[in-house]
Amino acid sequence: MTSKIKPAKGAAYARIMGVGGYRPTRVVPNEEILKHIDSSDEWIRSRSGIATRHWAGPEETVSAMSVEAAGKAIADAGVTPEQIGAVIVSTVSHFKQTPAIATEIAHRIGAGKPAAFDISAGCAGFGYGLTLAKGMVTDGSAEYVLVIGVERLSDLTDLEDRATAFLFGDGAGAVVVGPAKEPAIGPTVWGSEGDKAETIKQTFGWDVYRRTPVPGGDGPEARMALEDIRYPAITQEGQAVFRWAVFEMAKVAQQALDAAGVSPDDLDVFIPHQANMRIIDSMVKTLKLPENVTVARDVETTGNTSAASIPLAMERLLATGQAKSGDTALVIGFGAGLVYAATVVTLP
Ligand SMILES: CC(C)(COP(=O)(O)OP(=O)(O)OC[C@H]1O[C@@H](n2cnc3c(N)ncnc32)[C@H](O)[C@@H]1OP(=O)(O)O)[C@@H](O)C(=O)NCCC(=O)NCCS
Repeated sequence: MTSKIKPAKGAAYARIMGVGGYRPTRVVPNEEILKHIDSSDEWIRSRSGIATRHWAGPEETVSAMSVEAAGKAIADAGVTPEQIGAVIVSTVSHFKQTPAIATEIAHRIGAGKPAAFDISAGCAGFGYGLTLAKGMVTDGSAEYVLVIGVERLSDLTDLEDRATAFLFGDGAGAVVVGPAKEPAIGPTVWGSEGDKAETIKQTFGWDVYRRTPVPGGDGPEARMALEDIRYPAITQEGQAVFRWAVFEMAKVAQQALDAAGVSPDDLDVFIPHQANMRIIDSMVKTLKLPENVTVARDVETTGNTSAASIPLAMERLLATGQAKSGDTALVIGFGAGLVYAATVVTLP
């Protein structure tokens, strides 16, 4: 039987056309983290590479940070908000399951009536969103797609957990994906390892809520201040995640290079998820990247911003002239799930 459906009329290829970022104004140095945990600036810097991170204030909501980053990405791409046909928001720190924050963001940027939805793919979220966007552009479902990675991980940080208190930061990064005449986003190598789902997780229960006031009650709990309420914090088995990232993710990065037909010598820029400087260094070594490859080391001043980390690092490399438009970049995200996604892109 012959199909009655006409072939898709999308673009031949897709590319990242523009990038934008938003970093909260408040910079939090390690000294501030040390008020709550027994550690040292030296330990945090040497084990994670992190010196400072940005934490959002009350006005810097998931939506507000996204709107800022999206506006810059749209301007950088040279399109108008009305041309955006789909908005994909990757986040794990927007607290409503429904409605998706993407619809509010689409409305606030003046995008008309685009398709809009959220995805939850942890620190691989940007790569997942980028892959969906590429598919939409090449199958004609949308001409221009806005992909946002945004997190307020400070809301999910247990300040007294010395294994995680220093790791996380807040921010938003966005790109616009649109039509291209030649390949500019390679095949994505992605996947999940659900047998390791427990290695990074949110902790619910009385461990977390022990200070929640009892509404209407007059017992000791009821007198607890509201500001003492804790969101379910992210906990992780640091060493297990570290080993997985170092050994398995270098292989995935190599597979993405192979799938795109790009050798390390052809590469200009490497933008791994900004989780830990030692993971970044180890991947550079295993992949045998030549010295002239620019490596994103945004983690030092941004911390781990999960889905936002790759577009934020990309934006900074371009803004500071460390990378330039047209450069060939390997991007790889990995994290809670465990999930991962790697691809080779041409920088906007
Ligand atoms: C979190 C992380 C920096 C911890 O580093 P580590 O070298 O694995 O540290 P360990 O947990 O093995 O602890 C090593 C020692 O430091 C101590 N330590 C742990 N946290 C500490 C802290 N904040 N300050 C000082 N000492 C600390 C431990 O007690 C341990 O001491 P011991 O050797 O006397 O037992 C590291 O595991 C990591 O980055 N993991 C991956 C994180 C990540 O990328 N997550 C997100 C993926 S998306």
